[in-house]
Amino acid sequence: MVSVPMARPTSIFVCSDCGHIAAKWHGQCPSCEAWNTLAEERAPVPRAGGGAGGGGGRGLRAAGSPAGRPVPLREVSADRAPRLATGIGELDRLLGGGLVPGSLVLLGGSPGIGKSTLTTMALGLLQGAGRSTLYVSGEESPAQIRLRAERLEGGAAPGALDVPVLAETDLDTVVATIAAERPDVCVIDSVQTLGASDLTGAAGTVGQVREVATRIMDIAKRNGTAVLLVGHVTKEGSLAGPRVLEHLVDCVLQFEGEKERTYRTLRALKNRFGSTNDVGVFEMRDSGLVEVLDASARFVAEATRAPGSVVLAAMEGSRPLLVEVQALVSPSELVPPRRVVSGIDRNRLALVLAVLSRHAGVSVGSADVFVNVVGGVRVDEPGADLAVALAVAGAARGVVAGGEDARVPVAAFGEIGLTGELRSVAHHDRRSEEARKFGLTQLVTPETAPTLREAVRLAFGSARSPSRRAA
Ligand code: TYD
Ligand code: MG
Repeated sequence: MVSVPMARPTSIFVCSDCGHIAAKWHGQCPSCEAWNTLAEERAPVPRAGGGAGGGGGRGLRAAGSPAGRPVPLREVSADRAPRLATGIGELDRLLGGGLVPGSLVLLGGSPGIGKSTLTTMALGLLQGAGRSTLYVSGEESPAQIRLRAERLEGGAAPGALDVPVLAETDLDTVVATIAAERPDVCVIDSVQTLGASDLTGAAGTVGQVREVATRIMDIAKRNGTAVLLVGHVTKEGSLAGPRVLEHLVDCVLQFEGEKERTYRTLRALKNRFGSTNDVGVFEMRDSGLVEVLDASARFVAEATRAPGSVVLAAMEGSRPLLVEVQALVSPSELVPPRRVVSGIDRNRLALVLAVLSRHAGVSVGSADVFVNVVGGVRVDEPGADLAVALAVAGAARGVVAGGEDARVPVAAFGEIGLTGELRSVAHHDRRSEEARKFGLTQLVTPETAPTLREAVRLAFGSARSPSRRAA
């Protein structure tokens, strides 16, 4: 059932595509005819003098308003306020040294990934270091939050039990509490569960999410409170999700990984105060999240070296990371056969399979193909193509990359072109260096093989599948 919000005099409905303003909600925008684009917003408050203020700056200044006074940049004071280091090294590094007072950081991620854990840890450590903190939760009861904090107190974040908690979903109450308490750092968990009572839309709708973020940002800037805003990302990534906030906040961090697995990556997608080229790796333990500083060593040590396993020399932001890519090719009864991926893009696998079959003589036909990046790591770069292709080729032929008696796994990286050529990817040196550092001397790259066919020959040599050898 679709609930149609009723207009209140305080609300307007704005089309997110063309900006058309309507007094009531429509399924289709009366102006540009796009469907489902009208989102509720607070109506601008008419100001004395006739101008319409607020409303996202949509109203023009009325004639007669005092003109602003532009200031040369040289005369602008830019005090570099000291950063609030959370004590979680990977998080601080991503933030460019710690939280900036008065800033808004959006932490996105799918449910169960560990957002509440990470933010509780950050507050616990800050509280332990003598900062004032506030944890606002619209999702969980104080009792549930306490149970989590108990796990963390004994492990990753001593101080977690000292964090003041407010379980509240009403935006006005939350803003008033922040104004009264003036904490150094505040967590809002999550932006989708708070709601302004004067907007009719349910909490989590685009209009509400934007209103919550705007009001919180306003109070944060006035108080100098650093705010960590937690937001759920749905599988589609967009639905009333934190995407609508990306332009508003100072920094967007994305927590990724598979929630059943131990490893998670934290990535900066936008950063006004640091670089966006960085990634932190965490492991979820019983007593909280622990930074993983030797991820490559772990993944290489755990690599199986069985048919279908190849090590990918990936770049996670500005750091090289070695991860194992596994493939399984098995006869299928389904039409069309299954293509199941975890950790890579499904469309990329389709491309790799097509080029393997057309240009490298490796066909998986109508078999099911499964590809998995071990440890729950996600690699979103074309540089993963070659490792995926070699893993599939090994699985399809039942042979070990590098040969049965190779002592170390084969490592690979490179992009596959549609005509079967291998294309160079960024950071060739750093990837190769990382592979050599961990003893992976058999390296297949666009520099060692110009085509995918050549790369397959290099990785599997004259190796025959065990069945053919037995015959
Ligand atoms: P949570 O932080 O609640 O995820 P989110 O806020 O992103 O939805 O926690 C996710 C999972 O982590 C949850 O299933 C329990 C688990 N967990 C641990 O394994 N160890 C811990 O120390 C904690 C606090 C949670
Ligand atoms: Mg949570």
